[in-house]
Amino acid sequence: MRAVPDTFMNRTLQTIIRPDVLAMKSYPVADATGLVKLDAMENPFLLPADLAARLGEHLAAVALNRYPAPRPAELLARLRTQMGVPAGCEVLLGNGSDELISIVSVALSKPGATVLAPAPGFVMYEVSARLAHLGFIGVPLKPDFGLDLDAMLAAIDAHKPSLVYLAYPNNPTGNLFDDAAIERVIAAARDALVVIDEAYQPFARRSWMQRIVEFENVVVMRTVSKLGLAGIRLGYLAGSPDWIAELDKVRPPYNVNVLTQATLDFMLDHLDVLDAQAAVLRNEREKLVASLSRLPGVQVHPSAANFVLVRVPDASFAFETLLAQRVLVKNVSKMHPQLTNCLRLTVGTPDENAQMLAAMAVALEA
Ligand SMILES: Cc1ncc(COP(=O)(O)O)c(C=O)c1O
Repeated sequence: MRAVPDTFMNRTLQTIIRPDVLAMKSYPVADATGLVKLDAMENPFLLPADLAARLGEHLAAVALNRYPAPRPAELLARLRTQMGVPAGCEVLLGNGSDELISIVSVALSKPGATVLAPAPGFVMYEVSARLAHLGFIGVPLKPDFGLDLDAMLAAIDAHKPSLVYLAYPNNPTGNLFDDAAIERVIAAARDALVVIDEAYQPFARRSWMQRIVEFENVVVMRTVSKLGLAGIRLGYLAGSPDWIAELDKVRPPYNVNVLTQATLDFMLDHLDVLDAQAAVLRNEREKLVASLSRLPGVQVHPSAANFVLVRVPDASFAFETLLAQRVLVKNVSKMHPQLTNCLRLTVGTPDENAQMLAAMAVALEA
C-alpha cells in the first residue's frame, strides 16, 4: 500500500472518512475526447436541428431563479400516460436511475438488511447497497447468462433480502431473463421489494410495466438515458402509491432540476423522434451481431439492448487495439469471473459500427 504522508489533512481524512470510502475508487468514466464513443450505451444520435432549436426556445422560457417543482403533477401525469404506467400507480422521479437506486437503498437500509441481484449485473446496485451499509449478494447467472432460478430461490431463502434487482434486459450481458423464472423470483421474494430495471426497454420492447399491478412487491424503474437523453439525467420509478410515498421521503426535495423537467416536458411531445432513433439502433444491433459473428474467434451473446457483449481471445489486447484506432468500448473482463475476456460494445451509428468492426477485425488478426 502507498504510504500516506503524515499531514494534518491526511490525518483528518483517515480519522473521519469511512474506511470503506477511503478504500474505494470513484466510478471510472473514460475520457472519450476524439474517440468513437461506444462505451456507455448512449444513443449516438442528436436531436434534429429544427427540434433542438425549438427545445432551445422552450428552455429559454424556464425560470432559472426558482427551485424546481418537487412533484410536478402535470408532468408526472403526462409521463404516466406516455410511458404506459398502469392506472392507480404513482411515479417517483430521480436524477437518473442512479439516484433512484440510492433512494431505494437508503429507504431500506435497516441494520442487517440485504440486497440481492443476479451477477454479473449493473454495478450501481452493489455500490449503492454498500454505501447504505446494506449487505449485497450477487447470485451467479448460468453460463449462458440466463437466470439460475434454483440458485436465486436458494439465495432468497437463505438471505431473506429486503430488495431484489432484476435488470430486464440485464447489463452487461444484454439478455432478457425468462418471464416464468422472474415470476418465481417475485413469488419467493414476497417479503422484499423487487425492482425490475428496464433501462434498455426501448431496445427490448418487452416490459413488466403493465403487470406491476399484479404484484404488491414489484416496481418498475426506467430511464430516458438510453432513449437519447442521457445528458438530462432523468429516471423514473413506477409502482403502487404506498411504495412511492415511502421512497419519496428519502428523495432530496429538488432532485430533478428545472431544465431537465422542461426538456422532458418538451420531449414527451416528440417521443416519435426518439422512438425512430431506437428503431434504427435495433436494426443496427442485428447487423452488428451478424457481422461480429462472422469474425474469427468472437463469441457473440444475444442482446435485447443497445449493446452487444462479446468474448474474444484476449480482451485487453482487443480493447487496446481498438483504442489505438480511436474506438472506445468497455472492457468488462475484470468485472466478474463469468466475463473473462468480454467486451461490451455499444451500438452506434452505421458509420461508427463500421469503424468498430474494422478495428475489431484488426485486433483479431494481429
Ligand atoms: C441496468 C441499468 N440501470 C440503470 C442505469 C442507470 O441509468 P441512468 O442513466 O438513468 O442513471 C444503467 C446505466 O447504464 C443500467 O445499465
